[in-house]
Amino acid sequence: MALPKSVEILEVGARDGLQNEPQTIPAAVKIDFINLLSETGLKRIEFGAFVSPKMIPQMADSSEVLAGIRQVPGVRYEALVPNLKGFERALAAGVKEISIFGAASESFSQSNINCSIAESLERFAPVCEAAKTHGIRVRGAVSCVLGCPFEGDISLDVIADVSAKLYQMGCYEIALGDTIGTGTPVKAKRMVEAVAKYVPVENLAAHFHDTYGQALANLYAVLEEGVAVIDSSISGLGGCPYAKGATGNVATEDVLYMLDGLGIETGVDFDRAVDASKFVSDALGREIGSRAGLATLRKRS
Ligand code: HMG
Ligand code: MG
Repeated sequence: MALPKSVEILEVGARDGLQNEPQTIPAAVKIDFINLLSETGLKRIEFGAFVSPKMIPQMADSSEVLAGIRQVPGVRYEALVPNLKGFERALAAGVKEISIFGAASESFSQSNINCSIAESLERFAPVCEAAKTHGIRVRGAVSCVLGCPFEGDISLDVIADVSAKLYQMGCYEIALGDTIGTGTPVKAKRMVEAVAKYVPVENLAAHFHDTYGQALANLYAVLEEGVAVIDSSISGLGGCPYAKGATGNVATEDVLYMLDGLGIETGVDFDRAVDASKFVSDALGREIGSRAGLATLRKRS
């Protein structure tokens, strides 16, 4: 299949990235960071999560963050919601788009959201119903599609089944999560082929972490399958609390550089993305975490 002409990027650094930071990050820093992201041309920004603050303290201020940012018209500000309680908090905060998130691995589901896969689907159904009533769009995420920190390889049938059930429940898009970044390109292709039998490829997104440095290659492989929505994280922020050593999502700057080289439109300004990356890296007291961002900063100086 030919590569897509354009790709939509969902920037997840402010959520998937910052959720793993052990240091307290003031809401004001998150707000400034998201305001910079909003000026890059990104059309989708995951700004937070309405999850248990005991489990993920870093996301406890998501309402404050949403209230504080300058919402640019045309940009979609999205958040994770694990259950009805999270939905109510998101609704009260004024969120218009949410993600429910399950897993294709029983052990990961238990660790991450404290229930089995079947129980998670039972929890998500009323969230989808409530969202529909309030005109809120729901995305579904499936973790561990290219490996689980507890169970290793996950059956393609289970991945396809969970994806199909979320899609049937009303999720307009299914994000396929290589949560611990262990995938490789042919495996990624096979996985997308398996899911695409049940969910149209136009409704799939690739959410790949980069632990083993394979994420760009994996993305290229699934672009060839027709996937045209990519989750990425500025500066490659992030990790996985349940997988020792797992690193962040593929870095947005690296994805932008690759897509530009392939002649694929994103509408995102690379230099502004690097500026946002520099801002957040400085705020966290570390060097910028993307190869393309680092190379650009060296060239600038
Ligand atoms: P639980 O303990 O089973 O929940 O957690 P519960 O319903 O028994 O409630 C226990 C307590 O939590 C109660 O409070 C509830 O009110 C409270 P208490 O009475 O003890 O004071 N509570 C909440 N508080 C605020 N917001 C809520 C909420 N729900 C319950 N929404 C639960 C179940 C799902 C809530 C919990 O396990 C949880 O929050 N998990 C989220 C973990 C998480 O955020 N992980 C990271 C995101 S997933 C990810 O990164 C993967 C992804 O990027 C894709 C990929 O890479 O593959 C998306
Ligand atoms: Mg993730």
